[in-house]
Amino acid sequence: MRELPKIELHLHHEGAAPPAFIRGLASEKRVDLSRIFREDGSYAYRDFNHFLSVYEAATSVLTGPEEFARLTRAVLEESAAHGVVYSETFLSPDFCGGGDVTAWLEYLAAIREAADEAERDLGITLRGIVTCIRHFGPEQAKTAAVCAAETAGDWIVGFGMAGDEMVGHHRDYIWSFDCAREAGLKITTHAGEWGGAASVREAVDDINPARIGHGVQAIDDLALVDVLAERGIVLEVCPGSNVFLGVYPSLAKHPIQRLRERGVKVTVSTDDPPFFHTTMTREFEALEKTFGWGEEDFAEVTENALAAAFCNDETKDKIRERLT
Ligand code: ADE
Ligand code: ZN
Repeated sequence: MRELPKIELHLHHEGAAPPAFIRGLASEKRVDLSRIFREDGSYAYRDFNHFLSVYEAATSVLTGPEEFARLTRAVLEESAAHGVVYSETFLSPDFCGGGDVTAWLEYLAAIREAADEAERDLGITLRGIVTCIRHFGPEQAKTAAVCAAETAGDWIVGFGMAGDEMVGHHRDYIWSFDCAREAGLKITTHAGEWGGAASVREAVDDINPARIGHGVQAIDDLALVDVLAERGIVLEVCPGSNVFLGVYPSLAKHPIQRLRERGVKVTVSTDDPPFFHTTMTREFEALEKTFGWGEEDFAEVTENALAAAFCNDETKDKIRERLT
């Protein structure tokens, strides 16, 4: 399973930081982050909101482009070790220069250099999705959108929103999504991880995204599931994350298979792998064990991911070759 070539579309750049990497940076900088680690070295948090604050504390030691370059290398080494040949990660200007365009350009240049090097060494391609953070509010989201628009192109290929889904509404962020879309970026947004089917409906009606991060709670409104299927809105499903955070009590109760059966295009990702003790290999193995997925099922989700990837056709051709 580890060797099977994979595509991952939903991965938070900082959320993929190995805890040892963050601990090492904290000790280099003499910042006391002991409260965010358990004795066994893993990240410690109680629930989703606490997870978000631990995430932000971990991110606080990533203070410059060089740290993000090192992080990029570490993340891509780990992904490549699990067979990932193409990955899109969420990058937040809020964490990369505080929303300042000049600083963002420096962070992005460092990240891209590290990604180019990893592509040469490891055969994994990375593209970026600029992401605003919902609980930082609509005004700060605009600075992220401007950073996204300024750097839209063959490498920054999308714009999205992460963060606390229970804060505000998608309609509060329409300016930012429009700004990014007008710059040619493709759109994805987190919805239906915590906010229920109504939150997915709001995202679809107010933002019209090509993809939805999670989206799994749409299962509670079958008419909405049919809309997702008919419009070809692709779900970036992160089963291990949902089970670890308690959105569903077990993988057996997770709706990924029911969504597929009703015609929704699903893909599989890890979200924030070290936080949820997962990897792409573990996700695939768990789907095989729980739902009996085999070669054809994995081929289908990988084809869905390639079709829904935000990169250009030339990049897709290169990735297709790596899959065969
Ligand atoms: N940021 C990092 N991980 C996230 C998740 N699972 N949901 C929302 N925002 C996030
Ligand atoms: Zn996510």
